[in-house]
Amino acid sequence: MSAQQIVAIAGATGAVGVELLQCLERRNFPVREIRLLASARSKGKQLSFQGKPVVVEELTENKFEGVDIAFFSAGGKISREFVPRAVACGAVVIDNSSAFRMDPEVPLVIPEINPEAIGKHRGIIANPNCSTIIAITPLWPIHRSNRIRRLIVTTYQAASGAGAAAMRELLESTHAYLHDKPHQPTVLPHPYAFNLFSHNSAMNAENGYNEEELKVIKETWKIMGDPEMRITATCVRVPVLRAHSESLLFECEAPITPDEVRSLLANAPGIRIVDRTAENYFPMPRDASGRDEILVGRIRKDLSDPSGRSIVMFVCGDQLLKGAALNAVQIAEHLISAGRKLSATQTSAVPL
Ligand SMILES: NC(=O)c1ccc[n+]([C@@H]2O[C@H](COP(=O)([O-])OP(=O)(O)OC[C@H]3O[C@@H](n4cnc5c(N)ncnc54)[C@H](OP(=O)(O)O)[C@@H]3O)[C@@H](O)[C@H]2O)c1
Repeated sequence: MSAQQIVAIAGATGAVGVELLQCLERRNFPVREIRLLASARSKGKQLSFQGKPVVVEELTENKFEGVDIAFFSAGGKISREFVPRAVACGAVVIDNSSAFRMDPEVPLVIPEINPEAIGKHRGIIANPNCSTIIAITPLWPIHRSNRIRRLIVTTYQAASGAGAAAMRELLESTHAYLHDKPHQPTVLPHPYAFNLFSHNSAMNAENGYNEEELKVIKETWKIMGDPEMRITATCVRVPVLRAHSESLLFECEAPITPDEVRSLLANAPGIRIVDRTAENYFPMPRDASGRDEILVGRIRKDLSDPSGRSIVMFVCGDQLLKGAALNAVQIAEHLISAGRKLSATQTSAVPL
């Protein structure tokens, strides 16, 4: 990798931000200087990078002077306000929020699927939704070989997907439940311990889908470049601390067997097959937590489709890693190794 970069992380103290810092460190990303930014609440807090303490600063618009790459993971509102300022300062932004994902001028990238889109950026590259990344990274090698024309996604989403505060809420509500104490949820809309509920994103009154489900559908169309794919999703929050699980049922254009799926995925980047039927051992969020790979198993024929074109499988992925921080750092690695980092000053027409 080439020149050492000045890197900023907006949202450095959050669930994703902390993982971003660790990913940059363990993947030896070429960092010359790192700026850790968060809200005024975290000003002065110390985090560690490459064995040295780094003091967290308050996110303000002047913090992006001289920054080469800025990772944003502080929510859509903060991205909408500060990303344009970071780009105007000359930084390339890799944004974890949903603020710019569906902007036709902004590449939405999973490096295993559409790395070529990175080169088309005009200052902003969007990281997809975590459920989308975990669903479609393993589907891509299959889709390329035998087009997927229909997809049914059902998610079992962990607390960590809703941030550090939701993880605390799961722990605290579980502790209260076990000690027969009352607990009032403040982060998620319903009691979390020993419960599950429909995803906590906003509902679309017209079609009855929540925002998370619509993100999975629309982002898949954009990343795979196949808006004809028929997709539906049901997204559910489950009382798991970390790593999302998903059931994927898909119908291909031509007949396909579970063995063909296994061989397509056997050497696919970022995928690990865990399909030990005899032991009833399949992907689990506990096994996926802290891992870079998406675990794939329960690969079987859909018995409800006699045409032999449909497969069901079950996947688990650490959505703080491949679903967020790792994917973002992989994008940054591509940017640097391809030498395509365009400064925003070279690209005046950033659509915002
Ligand atoms: N969690 C996931 O699995 C996941 C996956 C993909 C994408 N994302 C996206 O990544 C973003 C962060 O998610 P998260 O789960 O890491 O959330 P989080 O744990 O709640 O962290 C939020 C971060 O944003 C900072 N922040 C909040 N308000 C701010 C303000 N007014 N000014 C500056 N910084 C502020 C927080 O700083 P303080 O600590 O100072 O409050 C913290 O560093 C969201 O857009 C989310 O949709 C998350």
